[in-house]
Amino acid sequence: MGYMSAKKILHHINSLPFPLTIKHYFAFDSATALLKDGVLSSVESWDALRQSHPHFSISENRDEWLRAAEAQVKKDGQDGALPVRAKEVVRIIDELGVQTLFSAGVGGAGLEYQIKKLKPALRLICSEYSTVSVNVLRKVFLECDSILLFDMKSKDWSIALENADARTQLVLLNRIDIDLSNDELRDMFRHMCDFGIRNILIILCGRITARGLLNRIYQRMLWRLRGVPYAFAGYLRTKSTFPLFWRGLYQSSDIELPYMSGFLLKKIER
Ligand SMILES: C[S@@+](CC[C@H](N)C(=O)[O-])C[C@H]1O[C@@H](n2cnc3c(N)ncnc32)[C@H](O)[C@@H]1O
Repeated sequence: MGYMSAKKILHHINSLPFPLTIKHYFAFDSATALLKDGVLSSVESWDALRQSHPHFSISENRDEWLRAAEAQVKKDGQDGALPVRAKEVVRIIDELGVQTLFSAGVGGAGLEYQIKKLKPALRLICSEYSTVSVNVLRKVFLECDSILLFDMKSKDWSIALENADARTQLVLLNRIDIDLSNDELRDMFRHMCDFGIRNILIILCGRITARGLLNRIYQRMLWRLRGVPYAFAGYLRTKSTFPLFWRGLYQSSDIELPYMSGFLLKKIER
């Protein structure tokens, strides 16, 4: 507990208190060359990465997929903290009286699996914009009530509220901030608001801290010196950048826990 508190304090000290967005680069080993246009910003690139890199793959084999979802095998976004994070989400779900959870950009859906395990009565809808991932998840994530093909950049968010009451529905955006540009994020919250989505839980993928910024610069220098190919892999922001995306639409409260940084949004009713 002492260690976790120290980690939390360190995060706070390191947080940069002003809006800033930077491009994120990553060396995906041999998969870097397989990304469409050399960048990770399309469904084709995500499919190529998931098919060729074990850290990002989603297994079609239920037992293997379960091992990742149970955090017994470490994958992108699926580490030992998954059960703790799921508990936190369930606590929020219970406090809000949520009955339907719509999660967008679920990837391997490890967090969603853990949530459903803790709360089987919750109606859970997972979505992804990759047909390949949707088909794989339908084979392995048997507990999920529905797995849908959905692009977060879509103007039409009605799918998230199908057969649900907006008052008891929550949209989960788990680590998808990295994939969208500032304009795309702003548009997405506008579209969600237009379609009457009231509750949104955002768990941030990454955010810039002073120490992180320096580490990144150093890492890129090393890649260049060593001739390691790396690719554009999305955007990182300081935490204070985010509220600008939903200003005037949603009221947000800050969530800062040892294993989870994000926001809980409530629609501003007019
Ligand atoms: C950083 S991963 C996070 C995956 C998962 N939520 C997690 O935490 O492990 C981002 C995911 O968003 C998906 N994605 C990217 N752009 C999307 C879009 N426009 N609509 C829906 N999903 C998208 C990708 O396919 C990828 O699975």
